[in-house]
Amino acid sequence: MQVDRLHLDLGGRVTGVDLAKTLDDETVTALRDAIDEYSVLCFPDQAMTDEAQLALTGQLGEPEEGHVKFGTTGEIDYLATIGNVVDATTKRDNADAYTLSQKGNNLWHSDSSFRSVPSYVSILHGYEIPGEGGETEFVSQRAAYARLDPERQLEIDDLYVLHDYVFSRSKIAPVHDNHAASLPPVAHPLVRTNPNTGERNFYVGSHARSIIGWSGIDSRRLIDELNELATEPTAVYSHHWSPGDTVFWDNRCVLHRGAGYDANKWRRYMRQTRVAGTPKVT
Ligand SMILES: [Fe+2]
Repeated sequence: MQVDRLHLDLGGRVTGVDLAKTLDDETVTALRDAIDEYSVLCFPDQAMTDEAQLALTGQLGEPEEGHVKFGTTGEIDYLATIGNVVDATTKRDNADAYTLSQKGNNLWHSDSSFRSVPSYVSILHGYEIPGEGGETEFVSQRAAYARLDPERQLEIDDLYVLHDYVFSRSKIAPVHDNHAASLPPVAHPLVRTNPNTGERNFYVGSHARSIIGWSGIDSRRLIDELNELATEPTAVYSHHWSPGDTVFWDNRCVLHRGAGYDANKWRRYMRQTRVAGTPKVT
C-alpha cells in the first residue's frame, strides 16, 4: 500500500489496495493508521459494488444507519445515494425536493456531528460523475486548531458545543417532522483528541449551533471564527472525482462540503456508507 500526500494539511492518494476484496487484518490496521495520519484517503480505480462497500464498512467498524430514512420512516439501511440518479434513464432535476435537500451537503459539516454517536469515517464511492462541478472539498480542523495561538487553545479546550441538524439544514430545505423529532440537539466537546495519536482538533461546522453556557451572540462569534479559520481557501483540498474513486474521510477532525453541480444537466451517482464513532468522545 502506497500513500502520496495530496495537501499539506490532509489527504492521501492510496494505491496498492483492492477495497472490494476482503481485507486482511494487517491492511485494516494500515488503513486505520492512514486515516489517523492523512484524514482523507482517495483510492482510484476501485471495482466497488454495494455489497463490497457494506463489507468494507463492517471491516472498519460498526456500520452507522442512515438517519434520514430511519428518522422519517423507521426503516434501517446503511447505504445512501448521493446525487440525482434514480435509474439508468431517470434523474432528478434541480427543482426536485431530494436534490434540494442534498444542497444542505454544500455547507461545511462533519457527518453525523448532530448524533449522540457521531461518525468515525464516511466512505463514498463514485459511479457517475458530472462533467462540471460535483467536487467534494475537505479541510482539517486539526491543522486549524494548530493555527490557534496557545492562549486561544486554552480558552476553548474545555467548552462543549451543541450540534443541531434541524438548525443547520432547515436553512436550505424543510426537514420532515419525524426526522426532526428523531434528532434532538446533542452536546459534544468542542475540542477532541485522537485516541491513537493524541492530536487535538476543534469540532464545529454548520451543525454547531451554540456553546453550552454561552449567550447566542458570543456562541455564534466563536463558532463563526473557528469555521472561518478552518475553511480558509488555502486550507482546502478539493477532490475532483473520477468514476471508480472511493474516498474515506475522518469525521472526527475533517469538515467537508459538496461544491454543487447542475442537476438539470448532469447525472451524479455516488453511494455512501459510514462507520460509527465512539459514544464518548474527548
Ligand atoms: Fe456529508
